[in-house]
Parts: sequence; C-alpha cells; structure tokens
Amino acid sequence: MTDKIDVVYTEDEIDKRIAELGAQITRDYKGKEITMVCILKGAASFACELAKRIDLPMEMEYMRCSSYGNETESSGVVKIDLDLDHPIRGKHILVVEDIIDTGRTMSYLLDILKDRGPADVKLCSLLDKPDRRVVDVTIDYTGFVIPDEFIAGYGLDYAQKYRNLPYIGVIDPEV
Ligand code: IMP
Ligand code: MG
Repeated sequence: MTDKIDVVYTEDEIDKRIAELGAQITRDYKGKEITMVCILKGAASFACELAKRIDLPMEMEYMRCSSYGNETESSGVVKIDLDLDHPIRGKHILVVEDIIDTGRTMSYLLDILKDRGPADVKLCSLLDKPDRRVVDVTIDYTGFVIPDEFIAGYGLDYAQKYRNLPYIGVIDPEV
C-alpha cells in the first residue's frame, strides 16, 4: 500500500518555526529551569528539536498515554501507559505535544499534571487543528494552525507509519 502525501510544511519551514518558538520560550522563562514533558510517541521529533533551541537549564521527561476511542476520534478517557519518573511539585512544566485535535487528550492530561502541584504548566504544540476542538485547551505556544485534514510526518503517524518523514504532509490514502 502506498499513500500519496502532499507536503504542507517543509523541513526548512519547520526548523525555522521551531527556532522562533525556542527563542520565545527562552525569553519567557528567563531565570527559570524548565521541565519539558514530551508526549510520546508523536511529539518526540518536535521535542528534541525544540529542546535544542531553548537556551536555559532543562530536564526532559516523557509520558505516553492512550486514549480509548476509534481510529479517528479520541474519547477523552485517557490511560497513562508511561508516567513521569520524578515528582513535579514546584517545577515549571512545559508540555510538548504533536497536535491538539479535539483537545480531549490534552485537557485530561493537563488536569492530571496540575494536580501534582507544579509551579506552573504551559503547553506547546507543533500543530493546532482548531476546527475539530470539542474541549477548550489553552495552547501557550503553537507551531502551525492547520485546517481539518489528516496529516502525518515529523513524528505524527498514519497507522503508525510516516513518523520518520522530515516534513509534514497531508495523507491521500490509496487503496
Ligand atoms: P485529541 O484528544 O483529539 O486532541 O487527540 C490528539 C491526538 O490525536 C494527537 O496526539 C495525535 O496522536 C492524534 N491526531 C489528531 N489529529 C491527527 C492528525 O492529523 N495526524 C496524526 N495524528 C493525529
Ligand atoms: Mg499524540
């Protein structure tokens, strides 16, 4: 099976945007230490590149969750498959996610993290699909706002494939 993929953001465009986000985060958190929480698997590529562009002391932590739902829509009932291995009380948490779609997964996750007593929690998402939003989520740092299309690449998958693409593209499934 091969799918047709139309490039939406090239590697250069993504790099440039990540550098801008990194500079902005560096300014906003000046004098603080960040605990970056990368949401696996989708945000792995983005979080690594973003971390390199943030010129501040930082810890990197990882979480993986699954959301019960069907293939295309999450339910909002989130199960934590891999949890942080350190307490986050008093820390400045920057959650890094690949995409906010309905917002269900992130809304649930942010509540869980806030309950653990961090100093503050902010959200940085590479992509935002606002047309699909069901639950309100404040995104503090957004890479790109996209229309309601299914995209893949740069960490995002389509049926677990294409995470390794260096660009972001729209999938046109072929049968
Ligand atoms: P939400 O709970 O609906 O916001 O789900 C967000 C999750 O759905 C993301 O972390 C992605 O794993 C997945 N997702 C949503 N839209 C896309 C897409 O266009 N391509 C790939 N994954 C997506
Ligand atoms: Mg995800």
